[in-house]
Amino acid sequence: MNRVPFANASVPTAQLHREPRDLLRFITCGSVDDGKSTLIGRLLYETKVVPEDQLAEIIRASATGDAGSSTEFAFLLDGLVAEREQGITIDVAFRFFATDRRKFIIADTPGHEQYTRNMVTGASNADVAVILIDARKGVLTQTRRHSYICALLGIRHVALAINKMDLLDFAEAPFRAIAAEYHSFAQSHGIADVTAIPVSALKGDNVAAPSTKMPWYAGPTLLDYLENVEVEDRLRTAPFRMPVQWVNRPHAHFRGFCGTIVSGRVRQGDEIVVQPSGRRSRIARLVTFEGDLAEAVAGQAVTLTLTDEVDVSRGDLVSPLSAPAGVSEQFEATVIWMDDDPLLPGRSYYVRVGTATVTGSVSTIKYKLNINTMEHLAGRTLALNEIGVCTISLDRPVAFDPYAENRDTGGFILIDRITNRTAGAGLLHFGLRRAQNLFHQAVEIDKHAQAALKAQKPCVLWFTGLSGAGKSTIANLVERRLYALRRHCYLLDGDNLRLGLNRDLGFTIADRVENIRRAAEIAKLMVDAGLIVLVSFISPFRAERRMARDLLEDGEFFEIFVDTPLAVAEARDPKGLYRRARRGEIKNFTGIDSPYEPPLAPDIHINTTTTPAEAAAELIIARLVELGIISRDLC
Ligand code: ADX
Repeated sequence: MNRVPFANASVPTAQLHREPRDLLRFITCGSVDDGKSTLIGRLLYETKVVPEDQLAEIIRASATGDAGSSTEFAFLLDGLVAEREQGITIDVAFRFFATDRRKFIIADTPGHEQYTRNMVTGASNADVAVILIDARKGVLTQTRRHSYICALLGIRHVALAINKMDLLDFAEAPFRAIAAEYHSFAQSHGIADVTAIPVSALKGDNVAAPSTKMPWYAGPTLLDYLENVEVEDRLRTAPFRMPVQWVNRPHAHFRGFCGTIVSGRVRQGDEIVVQPSGRRSRIARLVTFEGDLAEAVAGQAVTLTLTDEVDVSRGDLVSPLSAPAGVSEQFEATVIWMDDDPLLPGRSYYVRVGTATVTGSVSTIKYKLNINTMEHLAGRTLALNEIGVCTISLDRPVAFDPYAENRDTGGFILIDRITNRTAGAGLLHFGLRRAQNLFHQAVEIDKHAQAALKAQKPCVLWFTGLSGAGKSTIANLVERRLYALRRHCYLLDGDNLRLGLNRDLGFTIADRVENIRRAAEIAKLMVDAGLIVLVSFISPFRAERRMARDLLEDGEFFEIFVDTPLAVAEARDPKGLYRRARRGEIKNFTGIDSPYEPPLAPDIHINTTTTPAEAAAELIIARLVELGIISRDLC
């Protein structure tokens, strides 16, 4: 066969997009033991290989958004690039090769369970999976796991490479048995198109060249399969979608919306809708560096101008009026967790859907998936590499499509707000109706009216510190002083809330996150009621204290660090809890076997070893005067 090397790998990726049928992306699944490296090595050897630095160039171009390439590696690669910048390794090796029929990109990922996140990254970009099986071992748990992840990420075509046939004397029976077993598994998991191929990666049989040793097999070689498999041209058949990357406004007479078309096609004059706002308009021009176009298709980077003055910003999605995307702020979604720190329901993360970045949290984990057995398991958190079906809730609505319909507008990543790491990836299933039927009700007697009646500036004084640090003692003294000054206050105390509203919560990390979420929401309501709210909770995590701050307006939240070294708190041990924790009678005790993350920049820092409680309260009152929360005249 006459194979030509992929002559110019620095071809702008947009060009690859314009001829998507010429480019096949596939993922290889299996482990070294199955002969995966040998198989890839042979494929590359028998075709002509493009040096990896040229591929690196393409990936780099994709990362910088050159040449309309940002969808070239789809959303998860964006996540991957972000991860590179953030110094986390995801081991996906992308390799290139080409024949005269097609160009190929292989995503080669390690196969062990702890590498689920790598597989997800690779699979999210692939149209085909080559799943390797050692003919001597047959369908293994690992095979099922790989297949399941591929199906989940939208891969519909599988080449089942049953390898090491040479070690079984190229016998037909074991091949047929494995193929039959896999077929029945695949069918029940929505993988409709499976082609089983008997190969010997080591000897080369049926990899690129047909084998003479298996006359009973009349199907394609692996390379024939890869050259000929018909993959749906999903990007083009899906409706037009363009997430807006930025708004270009060089002067008052031009306002263009720039982005890469992730699916479908658009023509001048088309009626469009900007989502989530729902504003309608018409395409006036499709501007590119090479001049205006009459029509643009998936993969192209364009600047749209509209016939009306419509408010459009980064993160919005432009869709055809005839086939708009969905809009919601609550979803059911599959989440694949990729961070060492577990996913905690109630914790606030950045959520990136398309080009929109919003904050949001997982409200509930409906179930976790055992990806080896496909069992549904109950679970309150997701650990590294775990997969769960969750409900997620965003702080504002976004435009989306179900992932099954559009990988770009239906995929999302979760970013840790403190470390900025990509912590998880997700696939949107559908928007939850319950959110669509809720509307924020405006009340006439609002926060300002409430505050004016009480002649005060409402705010939250958030006391954080170890158990026994002196939070409640100091908060109490501050409240007494404020009361004496005829201020309207309320003290929310951890122990007290845990005896009532939060009595269903314990002291696991997940429960503490929920405990603080509720306390913060109540504090916010009390601020709306015009009160000065004192909150006294250990509140051990920076993320939740930050979430509490973000619920309020600027100048309404003051973090007060009641700083007492563990040894001192333990020596005081007012409730005898440290003693019991040391004896192992209390589990997950803060400072002993559960972490405390001290504030990095508290608004007020009280060192209780040098400042007695009375003096600390005075200091806080003085600071409140300084901050204008209470007027000097009152004191
Ligand atoms: S938080 O971590 O979720 O913010 P919170 O302030 O509500 O904790 O409750 C802490 C109080 O619960 C402590 O002052 C202590 O009296 C009690 N307590 C009981 N068990 C624990 C525990 N394992 N860790 C910390 N505090 C505990």
